[in-house]
Amino acid sequence: MDKSAIKNQVREFYDQVGWQQVSEGVYQNARYEDLRPVSQEYIHKCHMRVKRFLAATGDFLLDAGSGPVQYPEYITYSQDYRFRVCVDISITALEEARQRLGVHGLYVVCDIAHLPFKSEAFDGIVSLHAIHHIPYEGQPDAYLNLFRVLQAGKSAVIVNAWNYSSLMKRLKWLEKFMDRLSGITRRLFQPKTQQAALERTSGSLRSPKTQPTGTYAQHYDAETLLAEFARFQVPAEIYTWRSLSVRFLRAVIHPGLAGRGLLRLVYRLEEKYPGYFGRNGQYPLIVLRKPEQETS
Ligand SMILES: C[S@@+](CC[C@H](N)C(=O)[O-])C[C@H]1O[C@@H](n2cnc3c(N)ncnc32)[C@H](O)[C@@H]1O
Repeated sequence: MDKSAIKNQVREFYDQVGWQQVSEGVYQNARYEDLRPVSQEYIHKCHMRVKRFLAATGDFLLDAGSGPVQYPEYITYSQDYRFRVCVDISITALEEARQRLGVHGLYVVCDIAHLPFKSEAFDGIVSLHAIHHIPYEGQPDAYLNLFRVLQAGKSAVIVNAWNYSSLMKRLKWLEKFMDRLSGITRRLFQPKTQQAALERTSGSLRSPKTQPTGTYAQHYDAETLLAEFARFQVPAEIYTWRSLSVRFLRAVIHPGLAGRGLLRLVYRLEEKYPGYFGRNGQYPLIVLRKPEQETS
């Protein structure tokens, strides 16, 4: 598939599927998140990490691939900015974002890889789970574009998944074990009617027959992405956004098995070793800091 076909496919997917509400304020896209109460505190704290690296105030915060700005934490990133500039190729995303942000938002349908803004236009930039939808070879250009429109002395924060997490790989046995255990427990202790209902729901989450569940997405591994940054001389730092994948959370974290406590421990470790968990966990938080201009 060529670049423009990929872009059209991604746009159509989000217009027609990803940004359709499945219940009040919840989009189909949220299937990729763990929304269970047991994980809520951990996920909230991970979302709030983004804010630490951004300038606290400014005129314009760019949200590249904003979607509908779907989680309440996202709104806080621009609360002390004059405007949040939401950029997306999906018009549905931006219509939904406008419902949430109103006149605080400015809405531009365009491609992250070809931003129509002058250089150094933004005091802060976020791009969350969006760059992986750009054709693989074009992703370094998208980072460069974000760097171009960032003001000197300011930071951009980008969150994406790695294509390979050594930590998640090492813990795969636990995920599989817990999956099996919960299957057995369900069969033994849950009434047949509840089991059937659950299978219907999870079956429809895994493989709906009528609609596509995902679209084009390609992820880099840490080494390759860092090599690209070095090649383009873009100063990049890698921290942790969240080291645990959604699949792992769903399999291993449960309220009856000290789930909240385990997640507090994981969070503390991530805080202590952000570099290690950033490179080896599932989702890095990438910070591009543009150096101050030298005055002569
Ligand atoms: C997984 S969603 C993430 C949305 C939001 N940032 C979030 O974290 O909830 C990806 C978003 O990026 C948008 N997108 C994908 N490719 C894009 C591109 N080349 N330029 C602009 N937006 C793009 C999609 O339309 C979609 O709204």
